[in-house]
Amino acid sequence: MCGIVGYVGPRQAAPLLLEGLHRLEYRGYDSAGIAVQRNGKIELRKKAGRVSELERLVKSRAVSGSLGIGHTRWATHGGVTDDNSHPHVGGNGEVVLVHNGVIENYAALRSHLTTKGYVFRSATDTEAVAHLVADCLDELTRLGEDPSSDATCVKAVTTALPNLKGTYGLAIVFRDCPGLLVAVRNGSPLVIGVGEDEHFVASDASPLVGHTDQVVYLADHEMAILRADEFTLIHRDSGVMTPDVRVLEHVPGEADLNGFPHYMLKEIYEQPQTIENALRGRIDEDEATAKFGGLNISTQDLRRIDRIVLTACGTSWHAALVGEYLLEEFARIPTEVEYASELRYRNPPMSDRTMVFAITQSGETADTLAAMRECKRKGQPTLAICNTVGSTIAREADGGIYLHAGQEIGVASTKAFTSQVTVLTLLALYLGRMRHLSEPAGRRLIGYLKEMPRIVERTLQCHDRVREVAEKYHEANNVLYMGRLYNFPVALEGALKLKEISYIHAEGYPAAEMKHGPIALVDPNTPSVFITPHCHIYPKVMSNIEEVKARGGPVIAIACEGDEKIASIADDVIYVPDVEEYLQPIVTAIPLQLFSYHCALLRGCNVDRPRNLAKSVTVE
Ligand code: F6R
Repeated sequence: MCGIVGYVGPRQAAPLLLEGLHRLEYRGYDSAGIAVQRNGKIELRKKAGRVSELERLVKSRAVSGSLGIGHTRWATHGGVTDDNSHPHVGGNGEVVLVHNGVIENYAALRSHLTTKGYVFRSATDTEAVAHLVADCLDELTRLGEDPSSDATCVKAVTTALPNLKGTYGLAIVFRDCPGLLVAVRNGSPLVIGVGEDEHFVASDASPLVGHTDQVVYLADHEMAILRADEFTLIHRDSGVMTPDVRVLEHVPGEADLNGFPHYMLKEIYEQPQTIENALRGRIDEDEATAKFGGLNISTQDLRRIDRIVLTACGTSWHAALVGEYLLEEFARIPTEVEYASELRYRNPPMSDRTMVFAITQSGETADTLAAMRECKRKGQPTLAICNTVGSTIAREADGGIYLHAGQEIGVASTKAFTSQVTVLTLLALYLGRMRHLSEPAGRRLIGYLKEMPRIVERTLQCHDRVREVAEKYHEANNVLYMGRLYNFPVALEGALKLKEISYIHAEGYPAAEMKHGPIALVDPNTPSVFITPHCHIYPKVMSNIEEVKARGGPVIAIACEGDEKIASIADDVIYVPDVEEYLQPIVTAIPLQLFSYHCALLRGCNVDRPRNLAKSVTVE
């Protein structure tokens, strides 16, 4: 949440900052701003609204200079206003900074600094940091230190930091110290781009693409002191460090829309390819099992595992629920799915035979990261199933599996979900083949899995039908989603997709639970989406549908091709290819993604930038 970008080098900073902010806009789009330093002055342009509005402002009132910082905001403290937009100014303009994270003790800092005469112009937690750094700088200056020296400015920051409680990624510039950019991280991601006589800082690597492929990911408590031609890395405890420069992997054109009107639709259509990518190189035909390069855990240790905990948030949590069913069915290992936001503060019994998987698209979700760290602290082997290479969770996990789904830009997660389920299926196969799963059973599963990219391609042919169904139901105020067994998590995911991008209230339930409460919501204006492909309890799901029909509720069914029976009961049917029960989530999720997409479009919602949301939830 919130995107930070900074630049120091020979080029004009403003165009680079604006380009970087456009690429980071998925992290928050409440407001945007930049600050550019030149000739002993720092000029600010900031505005509530999208980056394009800031761009218009900068066009009408240009800023020039080759050192600057920028920010795109997802509001935490303080409303969406121009004043609350970053960058924030400390003191009388000596310090200007941008922040991602939450300062928990900002109220105390604010009252302390107000007593000292600092004037607050915003309602943000960040402004307290700006004034605090300015106060430390002022104190050092009074003691005779030179405010135009790097050493003094860096000292002001290091003096201020121990007073902050909470999380931060900060990029800071100083009015009286030309050419110095300081970036520091505690809990919120930052990456440094190392170019030729220029340096960048950003919340993720996207603003660096096309400018440099040399990157250094900051760890917590690391500070980068940047000038055009200098980069010093300091750790709070260990002092000066040698930066671990990595080469950024980038797929050209990944961030382009490629003719699609929205990223969400593009990403839905990428799924045949992303599932193929998740499978590539991971099937061991000889042994009828899966193979993974980065688990970093011996077969012997894997055999000792007697319990698995999957932890995640949102859509990734829904994928984890599918994972629970797969792991218990194929590997016969008791598996629990924990909301990361709960697990991080709970203390469930775990032993060194419990293996924890953090499942995350971004690899930066604050709660998932905290839950993973808590488990690591207690000695559990902790692995990640992650999409974003180089992300904090990917780097801190003991090992893991990448999704290789490519950058997911649409705020509503789509391709990451089906890739996560694909990887979890491979994992269940792998752990199963070490235990009870027979060679023919493993071989069968592999055969079906290998078919999935082609089947998903065919599933996408339901698009026109989904559009028709959305046209009929998009004005509903409430929608119920019901599925059983492997399709129960899909019901939750379908409801989440609809809520987040079309703002229609939706609830997902295991279909049989309906009778225990939600059936009271059924009426002629409340459609129920039943996810009901063939499964061994198909007749039971039919009965659940009849119960809704009997109460006058319209029914939309997601059913298998060739199922004629369902057409005589449901009001509308969307057909998808027939696959094994345990692979159904990969198929049935797709019409629900498309349904939410079309409902959102028909309701005039911004599909890729839904209100109040951000792609990467880096605050608690
Ligand atoms: C929903 C969605 C969110 C994320 C959640 C976790 O469409 O995108 O619910 O799934 O914020 O994010 P990651 O997977 O990046 O940890």
